[in-house]
Amino acid sequence: MKNIQISPSILSADFSNLRTEIKRLEEGGADMIHVDVMDGHFVPNLTIGPPVIKALRKHCSLKFDVHLMISPVHKYIDAYADAGADIITIHPEATDDLENSIKKIREKNKQVGVSLNPESEIKLILNLLDKIDLVLIMSVNPGFGGQKFMPEVLDKIKNLKKIQKEKKLNFDIEIDGGINFDNCKSAIEAGANILVSGTTVFRSNNGDIKKNINLLKLK
Ligand code: DX5
Ligand code: ZN
Repeated sequence: MKNIQISPSILSADFSNLRTEIKRLEEGGADMIHVDVMDGHFVPNLTIGPPVIKALRKHCSLKFDVHLMISPVHKYIDAYADAGADIITIHPEATDDLENSIKKIREKNKQVGVSLNPESEIKLILNLLDKIDLVLIMSVNPGFGGQKFMPEVLDKIKNLKKIQKEKKLNFDIEIDGGINFDNCKSAIEAGANILVSGTTVFRSNNGDIKKNINLLKLK
């Protein structure tokens, strides 16, 4: 049984103070930092890119769990790897050559993640599960923090967990979007071992990050 890890999304952080915010996450017990990269094309929002990741890299020892909501994606993998990403997660909906992009992330010695939008099915990535380190199951439509959790994705996680067992694979299952104290237990029970959370970590309990992270871990 894998330990439950929390990957707080800095999309909900104070963007005018990101260096301090990631320090707060580190001190608050975050297991990694979820960096939501959006290009205003794959999703209707625009956030940060390689220069910001590069600037933050030297101020944080935690893994950067970089979620690329961009299309095209293949030609930018080098830039995010060189900027300091540790996990690079891409969307099959954003590339016409997923296998090649997975290979590219591997060549850069980074952990490979593949993300499925709520309406995307596991069959999109079934034949690649043995080549990846992490499957990111979206529980909101990508683009914004603070959205409502979509409980229907829990069945997809249960299904993915079953396939993982049948194929004797060991990839992480990460869930992303609308995670809070009311749904984190069902996400874990469904089979997620990494929870992304932005709003709940930064806004709940007067912004007590340590308390919020522990509550999400059911501690
Ligand atoms: C949405 C992002 C999520 C989001 C999570 O496109 O991928 O990581 O920022 O934020 P909350 O926890 O507020 O839903
Ligand atoms: Zn994300």
